[in-house]
Amino acid sequence: MKRGFDQKNVHAPITLISGDRVLETGTGSGIWLLDLSTEVPIDVEMQGTDIESKMFPAPETYPNNIQFSVHSVTSLPQAWTDRFTLVHQRLLVASLQEAQWRKAINEIYRVTAPGGWIQLFEPSEWHAGPVNEKHRAMLAALSHHRGIIWDCYKYIPQMLADTGFVDLKVIQKELPLGKWGGEDGVAHRKNLIEVWWGTKTPILKAGGFGFVNSEQEFDQLMTDLETEWDNTPGSTHTYITWCARKPL
Ligand SMILES: C[S@@+](CC[C@H](N)C(=O)[O-])C[C@H]1O[C@@H](n2cnc3c(N)ncnc32)[C@H](O)[C@@H]1O
Repeated sequence: MKRGFDQKNVHAPITLISGDRVLETGTGSGIWLLDLSTEVPIDVEMQGTDIESKMFPAPETYPNNIQFSVHSVTSLPQAWTDRFTLVHQRLLVASLQEAQWRKAINEIYRVTAPGGWIQLFEPSEWHAGPVNEKHRAMLAALSHHRGIIWDCYKYIPQMLADTGFVDLKVIQKELPLGKWGGEDGVAHRKNLIEVWWGTKTPILKAGGFGFVNSEQEFDQLMTDLETEWDNTPGSTHTYITWCARKPL
């Protein structure tokens, strides 16, 4: 993702200096924090939180100005109020229901220091041909079934404003999907198809929503999707970064 976004981890208009504090919610493997730690002074304090610790990196693999802990973004420690210069969150689209998004952004606002920044990153639309459209409709059905908003990108700006964040900056990038897009298109295809494979069990368990009736049909749809992306110049997926400031 960094590759498609100007090779930058921080898009908020700040330079992190000694004594600043950075939080990443929904950190997963902590890859964003680990990468950022190579670019900032060693005494920038970094916290990574997630509802699960299973993806956290082994302690010997990261510097001791990074800490990982288990917290939901919807309920961060009270002691963190007004604490962080920057709070980053990436790719929670498949995890949070609408009410949880509001709670999450409220909690992030609370723990951001006055004058500090939030930085969110989520996907928006993706386009190719008819197979892609069928697959999108199937994902929309799954999202509806789980109460998840796959189009959270439509609501994020308003949620940020409602919470009190100001100075919204939006960076939107359309990345190529499939072989026609060269090395970047192939890398992106591999990432995205892996995410879609992860929906196999929930879709089949829910009965396929009228789009697939068996494991074989699901697998065939995935194969057809990759072929369509590869052979449809102009297949793209758009991602958005939002940065906004907590007023002083
Ligand atoms: C798709 S992964 C993204 C991981 C990481 N942000 C990245 O970009 O590599 C989503 C992560 O969100 C975490 N997650 C889901 N619900 C959460 C919640 N309520 N609070 C904090 N983390 C959550 C999951 O455990 C998972 O690690």
